[in-house]
Amino acid sequence: MNVLLGITGGIAAYKTPELVRRLRGRGADVQIVTTASAAEFVTETALQAVSGRPVRANLWDKEAEASMSHIELARWADVVLIAPATAEIMARLASGAAADLLTTLCLATEAPIAIAPAMNHVMWNNPAVQANRRTLEQRGVRILGPDYGSQACGETGAGRMLDPDEIAAIVCGPQLAGTDGQQLLAGKTVLVTAGPTREPIDPVRYITNRSSGKMGYAIASAAAAQGARVVLVSGPVSLPEPAGVEVIHVKTAAQMYAATHDSIAGVDVFIAAAAVSDYRPADAPQQKIKKTQETMRLELVRSDDILASVAGLDDAPFTIGFAAETENVRDYALGKLKNKKLDMIVANKVGEDCGFDYDDNAVDVYWRDGEQSFAKTAKTDLARQIVQLIAERYEATRGAATQPKLTVISTKDQ
Ligand code: CTP
Repeated sequence: MNVLLGITGGIAAYKTPELVRRLRGRGADVQIVTTASAAEFVTETALQAVSGRPVRANLWDKEAEASMSHIELARWADVVLIAPATAEIMARLASGAAADLLTTLCLATEAPIAIAPAMNHVMWNNPAVQANRRTLEQRGVRILGPDYGSQACGETGAGRMLDPDEIAAIVCGPQLAGTDGQQLLAGKTVLVTAGPTREPIDPVRYITNRSSGKMGYAIASAAAAQGARVVLVSGPVSLPEPAGVEVIHVKTAAQMYAATHDSIAGVDVFIAAAAVSDYRPADAPQQKIKKTQETMRLELVRSDDILASVAGLDDAPFTIGFAAETENVRDYALGKLKNKKLDMIVANKVGEDCGFDYDDNAVDVYWRDGEQSFAKTAKTDLARQIVQLIAERYEATRGAATQPKLTVISTKDQ
């Protein structure tokens, strides 16, 4: 597979030699094209050494053009990847500029284009950058990330370049390269629940859990990348809204139940990734509870089960639940599959060093007559694999012949 890697001038460019190694480790040939400012962050010598090919930087390089013209280079590429992609290159791609080698190649290629944005989080959230992102997405450019976390500038937010291994996995995976852009959930509507819920005790206190929402958000992104219209009903999390996804924000389990049922008409797949509070305080006084007693009792009542209620609908979508367990993972997961009448269940062990709030995870997925294990990997990568399996199972059970709806059950979100 031929990857044309465009490197632009952001601090994350220092990670590109590693990215090249990861791409080559997956069997790709990598031809690097740099912009003028990329050289401020990574040397041509390093890039040439890891890619094994001379770096191209100049549209007017007569010698390089003589051996392979920029048009031949555009044809050579199976995939064009720009990593890191600065706000500047996004603006130039969105405007259709062709003033240098990289932008010219992007106009001249028929290969899929993917970009991995990396910039300060305030820049990423700037309306101009977001407008360019939307324009590029509408033209079919795949936007990889950015990731959320601490940034080179010392601040925290969405704007980190995705991990090189994750980028390599996507670029060399079937979605971008293998299947002529075929999207497994094109034309389908997927509803995902994600994150924790908060159940008020009084106006200043609440009961919640350790769900970060990362798995559910990654699932929503992965379903959107497969061409689905995605509605994400999200509890309170500190994650950026995934690109191309309609997000409904809720706080309590009751609100999540209502928002899910308000949106369920026409949904093909329901995926319950939220960690819904199973119980809520029986009543939450309007005023703050004062510490007048030595001990106090809190009476809790069961929340309605969103997943089971959707799976029980007459016209239920293809429904997928999550089971987060600390022990007997398989038995409990299979029990939930049966009792809640789910189509699939995604089970994982949560504990000291796995599950909630970690960036990676391993899961086992079960359905009535099959199961599949997924090894520990980044939640974004795992989500892509799970969504691919969901799409396959949906197709197998409710595929084109019967025109059924695909319901995705939300799983316990982590
Ligand atoms: N779920 C839901 N609504 C609820 C509770 C759970 O939709 N009120 C969904 C979760 O999103 C997840 C699955 O149900 O997909 C989890 O199943 P559940 O039996 O609720 O798991 P636990 O809450 O962990 O139950 P238990 O404590 O009995 O293991």
